[in-house]
Amino acid sequence: MIDHLTIGRIQDAAQIVDVVSDFVTLRRRGVNYVGLCPFHDDRTPSFYVSPSKNICKCFACGEGGSPIHFVMKHEQLSYYEALKYLARKYGIEVVEKEYTDEEKQAQSDRESMFILNEYARDYFVKILHSHPEGKAVGLSYFRERGFRDDVVKKFQLGYSLEQRDAFSTEAQHAGYRKDYLLKTGLSTGGDDNRPLVDRFRGRVLFPVHTLSGKVVAFGGRILKKVANTGKYVNSPESEIYSKSRELYGIYFAKSAIVKQDKCFLVEGYTDVISMHQAGIENVVASSGTALTHGQIRMIHRFSENITVLYDGDAAGIKAALRGIDLLLEDGMNVKVVLLPEGEDPDSFARRQNAEQFNRFIAENEIDFIRFKTQLLLEETGDDPVKRAGLIANVVESISLIPNSITRSVYIQECSQMLQIQERVLIAEINRIRRRNFERKRDQKEREETTEATRIEAGTVLASTDKKPGKSISSAAPYERFERELIRYVIRYGNTPIYRRFEKQKRKEGKRVIEVDILVEEGPGVTEFVLFDLERDNIIFTNELYRRIFEEALEHQENSTFDSGRYFISHADPEISRLASELMSDRYQLSKIHSRILGEEEGDQSSRLLEQNLLSSYVPRATTELKNAYVLQKIEEIKRALKKASPEEETGLIIQLQEMQMIKKLLAKELGERIILKY
Ligand code: CTP
Ligand code: MN
Repeated sequence: MIDHLTIGRIQDAAQIVDVVSDFVTLRRRGVNYVGLCPFHDDRTPSFYVSPSKNICKCFACGEGGSPIHFVMKHEQLSYYEALKYLARKYGIEVVEKEYTDEEKQAQSDRESMFILNEYARDYFVKILHSHPEGKAVGLSYFRERGFRDDVVKKFQLGYSLEQRDAFSTEAQHAGYRKDYLLKTGLSTGGDDNRPLVDRFRGRVLFPVHTLSGKVVAFGGRILKKVANTGKYVNSPESEIYSKSRELYGIYFAKSAIVKQDKCFLVEGYTDVISMHQAGIENVVASSGTALTHGQIRMIHRFSENITVLYDGDAAGIKAALRGIDLLLEDGMNVKVVLLPEGEDPDSFARRQNAEQFNRFIAENEIDFIRFKTQLLLEETGDDPVKRAGLIANVVESISLIPNSITRSVYIQECSQMLQIQERVLIAEINRIRRRNFERKRDQKEREETTEATRIEAGTVLASTDKKPGKSISSAAPYERFERELIRYVIRYGNTPIYRRFEKQKRKEGKRVIEVDILVEEGPGVTEFVLFDLERDNIIFTNELYRRIFEEALEHQENSTFDSGRYFISHADPEISRLASELMSDRYQLSKIHSRILGEEEGDQSSRLLEQNLLSSYVPRATTELKNAYVLQKIEEIKRALKKASPEEETGLIIQLQEMQMIKKLLAKELGERIILKY
């Protein structure tokens, strides 16, 4: 666990622009920054980052929040993990207390899996460089392939010994638990108390890193040809790894992609590594599978230009063409380079330096649509039926391009290449676009119908549906939590949930004195509550609270708005009665502090502390309300399950699991927020 002071230090250090920039390319717009939202399929920049408020928000999907929230959401981390991530980034020492056995037990699976993977990576690296077998077999393999030692180190390549349990045994001795060894897939077997077996034994290892450099998986390459064994064995899909979500090399490539405003896409681990060695670092690999939208989006955040490198033999090209349509659809500018006959990016890069390589690219890079048209033209010759098929195929690709100007450039060009009138192409493309649009709309409608049955209670955690306030059957379970939130709104109104001060030296006459300068403010309490609840489509179910909240919102822009006084003197007796009750000193935070600090601590410091506490109390209160919704929903699903037909059952069980997972996340968050009893 991280102590309170350290958390405060991390919160103070984390600058939103800085944190978001690690993952999203931001452009300045006025006092704010904008970029493509990493949380939804964003084609025009909707993601706003406000340095002064130190928050980010997507105006399209509603995601966003503080630096900690951003990291949690983006990297799929718990609150606690996100704090550690930020601490590392800002060089803040994290003081953790010793874990008791219970706490160890309670640590999340995901975190344990990451820690184990990190341990495994270090272990395999050590074997490669220091163990006799590692050096003789693994390291010499890499050297024979022409990988330089510095590159082997940079990519953290490793070796797993032939002995069938070498790693599993060592890891268990080091205290790593069997279930995590199995979950990460580092080990297999272990049934009926038999010993674990190393998945990657006798293979060289390529760790797969996330965008932020965590190890989620390994690819193990066999060294000798053995019949009936795949060249690569990869980590299985797990809670932390989904092959279709990761891109090999992205961690090492991201800054080069931004700098060059371009990303190379290759197939394999070795292609990425050889290109780096040749000095071309803006390269990622799809690891032999078709690209997914998620992977494309990951690239798109850093650049919209992508160049796909193909092996010289034409066999695979046509299959790969299909995957590229996805890139067009996501608004990328796609180019293609065909390498010389018999070369793959790996072999080619090994014989070139960066300059030669780049020259080759510059001379041979062609636009994807042109490439595809040419390729197909060569194939069809004069056959009219094939020609019609070709036209349909090219038109299909063009119709996927979201930008109309780009589209019309291609239409012009293809009209010449194919010798077809432009207006014919245009008509056809429009027809396809209409068809695609209708398909998407139908699909969306289907999804929305299921969504509506899914969560009719009105809480859609992490959903992008912005319709607020579906009706809620029984409001009572939320009352207590809503009241708590309204109390903060009335008491603190537009008070920022945190403020950050910096010491500055200032000359006063002859003396130099230190003064606290306000350098940053969080959102106001009311604004934060709105922001946090809106994300999950939650509104106050209690009519009175809702009225109060709406009135508070009307005064949101007014920094001198005294919400306590305003509501206490409200014309509506119901409101003023509630306000005076909630304003009563029984609840005053600063009282709690002066009790902790001793009365003599001045006004100033007690107010500062109150601010610090707001930043944990208010988010805690919103989280508690969300938690109440989830619990309610779980009850509902369970009730529905009792009466469900067999067809309905699967769906309900999936919903139940989802809700349970959210519940777990919220519980963790609630558990980790510091609670002062009063
Ligand atoms: N791949 C895989 N499993 C396999 C084969 C391939 O996961 N059984 C993935 C790997 O990510 C590999 C990529 O597909 O890097 C490309 O495959 P291939 O070209 O066969 O491998 P290379 O990495 O080029 O390996 P090498 O050059 O050593 O043959
Ligand atoms: Mn290869």
